[in-house]
Amino acid sequence: MAKVLILGANGKIARLAEHIFVDTTDTDLRLYLRNAGRLKDFADSHKLVETVEGDATDVAGLSESMEDVDMVYANLAGGNIVDEAKAVVEAMHAEKKTRLVWISTLGIYDEVPGKFGKWNNETLGNYITTYAAAAKVIEDSDLDYTIIRPAWLTDKPEVDYEVTQKGEAFKGTEVSRRSIAQIVVDIFQDPDKFKCESIGVNKPNTDGDKPAWY
Ligand SMILES: NC(=O)c1ccc[n+]([C@@H]2O[C@H](COP(=O)([O-])OP(=O)(O)OC[C@H]3O[C@@H](n4cnc5c(N)ncnc54)[C@H](OP(=O)(O)O)[C@@H]3O)[C@@H](O)[C@H]2O)c1
Repeated sequence: MAKVLILGANGKIARLAEHIFVDTTDTDLRLYLRNAGRLKDFADSHKLVETVEGDATDVAGLSESMEDVDMVYANLAGGNIVDEAKAVVEAMHAEKKTRLVWISTLGIYDEVPGKFGKWNNETLGNYITTYAAAAKVIEDSDLDYTIIRPAWLTDKPEVDYEVTQKGEAFKGTEVSRRSIAQIVVDIFQDPDKFKCESIGVNKPNTDGDKPAWY
């Protein structure tokens, strides 16, 4: 049976992906997170799910958690995301793991055009440069990565997205977390999908100077 390791497993997109995995596939899930007790009830009620307590900057903990997994899905965040990226790459190398899905953000290549791009840069500030540096760590590795650059995230219960590639102008302003979670599950089921690609993901027809709720 196939197994995925989810890092930052209590993150909002991660939680949606976990529910899609258990509801629609027979995938084994290893959930790696700080304060793992937060997902104890979920793990106890699903026989293919286990939790591991750990921090994503801990190479030894990451390495141990990677035993027998087929894909690593990193749903991480924070000011130390570069250290997290370095730790994930080091652990994957040590464990000879190759397939990684890494959630990043829009704007890391200055690829968001027009007024929205300017607003996005001004609003996100250092967050973008930090996330760009983390993405570079992933791209400079020899891993089979997919970097996902979502637009501004919503909690709409919809899967509705289009994709732009690195080197293309970003489209739209928003996308649902549910769409990103579905992409992660789809990649696990078809590991060649978006392999060695950095994809922008947005909801079609949401162009604007800002996300609609600003
Ligand atoms: N909000 C937006 O519009 C937007 C747009 C594009 C991209 N993004 C990015 O997309 C990513 C996923 O989004 P999301 O909504 O799922 O984010 P989220 O709910 O904030 O999830 C991120 C998770 O990362 C975990 N984490 C951070 N540092 C960690 C560490 N050192 N060790 C272990 N876990 C760690 C957090 O764990 P704890 O629960 O323990 O704190 C949290 O659960 C984030 O990086 C976000 O910045 C956001």
